[in-house]
Amino acid sequence: MRWAYSFITVLLIFFSSLSSIVISQSDSCNSVLNLNGSVPFETTNLVCLSVWQAQDYILRFVQNGPSLWSFVLSAPYTNAYVAIGFSPSGRMPGSSAVVGWSGSDGALVIKQYYLGDTNPSKVNPDQGELPIVPNSSAIKLQSSRLYLAFQLNTTQPLSRVLYSVGPRDRLPSSNNRLTEHRDKVSTRLNYQSGKLNYLPATTYANLRRGHGIVNMLGWGILMPIGVITARYLRHFDPIWFYSHVAIQMVAFVLGVSGVIAGFVLEDRLSVDVDKHKTVGIFILIFGCLQAIAILVRPDKSSKARKYWNWYHSNVGRVLIIFAIANVFYGIHLGDEGRGWNAGYGVAIALLILVAIGLEVRMWMRK
Ligand SMILES: *[C@@H]1O[C@H](CO)[C@@H](O)[C@H](O)[C@H]1NC(C)=O
Ligand SMILES: *[C@@H]1O[C@H](CO)[C@@H](O)[C@H](O)[C@H]1NC(C)=O
Ligand SMILES: *[C@@H]1O[C@H](CO)[C@@H](O)[C@H](O)[C@H]1NC(C)=O
Repeated sequence: MRWAYSFITVLLIFFSSLSSIVISQSDSCNSVLNLNGSVPFETTNLVCLSVWQAQDYILRFVQNGPSLWSFVLSAPYTNAYVAIGFSPSGRMPGSSAVVGWSGSDGALVIKQYYLGDTNPSKVNPDQGELPIVPNSSAIKLQSSRLYLAFQLNTTQPLSRVLYSVGPRDRLPSSNNRLTEHRDKVSTRLNYQSGKLNYLPATTYANLRRGHGIVNMLGWGILMPIGVITARYLRHFDPIWFYSHVAIQMVAFVLGVSGVIAGFVLEDRLSVDVDKHKTVGIFILIFGCLQAIAILVRPDKSSKARKYWNWYHSNVGRVLIIFAIANVFYGIHLGDEGRGWNAGYGVAIALLILVAIGLEVRMWMRK
C-alpha cells in the first residue's frame, strides 16, 4: 500500500509540473511568434527578450527603418490590463504607456495613456507622447496570452521601459480609467545590444527599503530627538549633553550609511533622482559641519561661545527641516505611498507635539 501511495504521489507531482511547464511555455523566446496575420506589420525577425520574469512578460522589437520601430508585448491573460510604458526618468510620472485588455464582453482594447502621476486620477486615456504610427496598433488574445503590438515613429525609443499588470477582475469600465496596478517593474533596455542591461528595481527592494528606513531613522527621527534633548532637558546637566552627543552620533552614522545606500541605488537602478540626491548631499554636508563644529567648540567662558551656539543650533534646524522634506520626497520617489507617508507623518506629528509641550513648559518655568 505504502509504495502505491508514493508512486501515485510521484506521478501527481510529475504531471502537475509537466502541465505548469506546458502552460508557462505557451510563449517564450524559443517559440516562433505566430499572430496569424492579425497584426498590421511584419512580426518576423523581431529581437525577443524576457523582460519581466515574475509576470512572464516577453517583449519583441525591431527597428524597421530610420525612424520606425515595431514592438510586440506578450503577457499572460489574467483578466487584468497589461501595460508597457516609456519613461524619460525611469519613473512612472511623466511617462506614456500602451495599455491593453480584453473586456468582459470579449472586446479587445488597446490605448495610449499619459501617466501624469502615480495617482490613477492622473492617468489619462487617449493621451501621451508616444509617436505611435497611425493604425499600427493591434491587440490579440491567443492561447491565454495577450499580445499588444504597435509601431513608433522615432529614431530612438526611450530606453527606460516600465511594465505593469492591473488588478485581477477589475478591468477599466466604459470611461477607460485604470485602477492601480497590482505589480510593476522599471527596466532599462539597450536596443542596440538587445539586452536588458539593468536589473529590475524590485531586485533591490531590500536595499531601497533599507535606504529609506535608515535615513528616516537617522536624519528624520533621531536627529530631531537629539535637538529636543539639547533644547528642553538642560536642567538634567550633564546628562542632557551626553545624551545629545550620543543620539546625534548614532543618527549621523545611520544617516551616512543611508546616503551611501542611496548612491549605490542610484548607480544600480540608473534612475533620475537628481533633486533628492542634491538635497541629500546638502544634508550630509550640514551633518559633517555639525560634527566638525563639535570638535572646534570654544570653551564655555569664551566670548566666541555665544556665536558658536547660535551657529550650531541654526545649522541643526536647517538640517532637520531639509531632512524631513527629503524623507517625504524620497517616499514619493520610491512610489511607496500611503503606508510610509502615514507612518513617518505620525512620528513627526508626535515629535512636534512633544516639542510644543516642552516649549510651553519651558516658558512657564521662566
Ligand atoms: C489562423 O488563421 C486560420 C485561417 O484564417 C485559422 O484556420 C486558424 O485557426 C488560425 N489559427 C489561430 C491559432 O488562430
Ligand atoms: C486608419 O484607419 C481608419 C479607419 O479605421 C482609416 O479611415 C484611415 O484612413 C486609416 N489611416 C491610415 C493612415 O491608414
Ligand atoms: C514619421 O513622421 C514623419 C514626420 O512627422 C513623417 O514624415 C513620416 O511619414 C512618419 N513615418 C511613419 C512610418 O509614419
